[in-house]
Amino acid sequence: MNTTEVAIIGAGPAGLTLSHLLHLQGVESVVFEGRSRTEVESTVRAGILEQGTLDLMRRTGVGERMDREADIDEGIDISVAGNRTRIALTELTGHHVAVYPQHEYLIDFIARRLADGGTILFNTTVDSVSGFEEPLAANAGMGEYPVTVDYTDESGNSATLKAKYVIAADGSASPYRTLISDTAGGARHRHEYPYAWFGVLVNAPKTQKELIYATHPEGFALISTRSDSVQRYYVQCDPDDTVEMWSDDRIWDALHTRADTPDLTMSEGDIFDKSVLRFRSAVTEPMQLGRLFLAGDAAHTVPPTGAKGLNLAVADVAQLAPGLVKALRGDVSHLESYTDLVLPRIWRGQHFSYWMSSMLHEAPNGTAFESNRRMAELTAVLESEAGRRYLAEQYVGLDIPNHEV
Ligand code: DHB
Repeated sequence: MNTTEVAIIGAGPAGLTLSHLLHLQGVESVVFEGRSRTEVESTVRAGILEQGTLDLMRRTGVGERMDREADIDEGIDISVAGNRTRIALTELTGHHVAVYPQHEYLIDFIARRLADGGTILFNTTVDSVSGFEEPLAANAGMGEYPVTVDYTDESGNSATLKAKYVIAADGSASPYRTLISDTAGGARHRHEYPYAWFGVLVNAPKTQKELIYATHPEGFALISTRSDSVQRYYVQCDPDDTVEMWSDDRIWDALHTRADTPDLTMSEGDIFDKSVLRFRSAVTEPMQLGRLFLAGDAAHTVPPTGAKGLNLAVADVAQLAPGLVKALRGDVSHLESYTDLVLPRIWRGQHFSYWMSSMLHEAPNGTAFESNRRMAELTAVLESEAGRRYLAEQYVGLDIPNHEV
């Protein structure tokens, strides 16, 4: 019978970071991932790392390539119908962010786990998880392996792994969170938004180094970047829009109208990728039941504005890892408090993502009252140093707890 201490479902930011942090404390894990390594390493997602995430990468020895290649940004621009205001992140908070795409983060953590002898089972589907209901306190860390993970390996063979703990870190479509949210005392809180983003990748030089969040009567636009020669642009669209509805001309028209300013024109190039990003907020609580724990998007989803998703996932596992390590040594108190420890930060992330989204997007079919109130809020924030500092503090993120135990 194969055994491990911690079974981790999902090789995304939460799962891989957790596996790495556990390894540093001498705890072995097995990571299950349904997709291939190539797919994991090439799927384009968000691109902003908060100061705390950067510090965790550096502190745990995975920050070398990021430090060499990432753009460190000390500010962002917010453009209101062509008037730009700079939010001086570093001047206002002493912290910065980095533009480092999520798949690059994953490439670094996969390489590091494999170099350290870690097990990541790609192309492997978890079929069922059982035995996790056993109370945490019973035999914590010793003796038996109460959790059973049944899976189908990459050759199509059925197999079983026994573990002491199981972590669902398999993203927003995780089937495991309902094992918690459908039980007495469990809940899933949701919010839907009446808009979405149309995202493109473009072969073009940078429009400018720092990001531009633009709002305009015709809608939102975001000017982000991936490298000196590849740019990431988004325009607000309808949640039901499809890729076919946005020709290149329509995209460039929308981007120029919404984001150009008298002194800056968006750089154009070949559009080689188009996709629609849905906006959703959701939180599952509690994030644990017995020996099953949720981490990252499996428990909570934020809309993309402000790029908090990956950072919240990393903050979850920065608490979960020491909790698991201590539990395996016989002290379950930290692990028992996991949900209480991470939820306040998650709700703050929800609030910030909701606030930035609703302040920067014109709701379709909104009333004139709503629209004028929104603009008054935005200008009040931008014109006040206290307002800009508040936005900057939330944008660079709350500190992530030190993972060391
Ligand atoms: C990106 C995405 C975001 O949601 C954001 O706020 C900033 C940047 C990006 O994909 O580059």
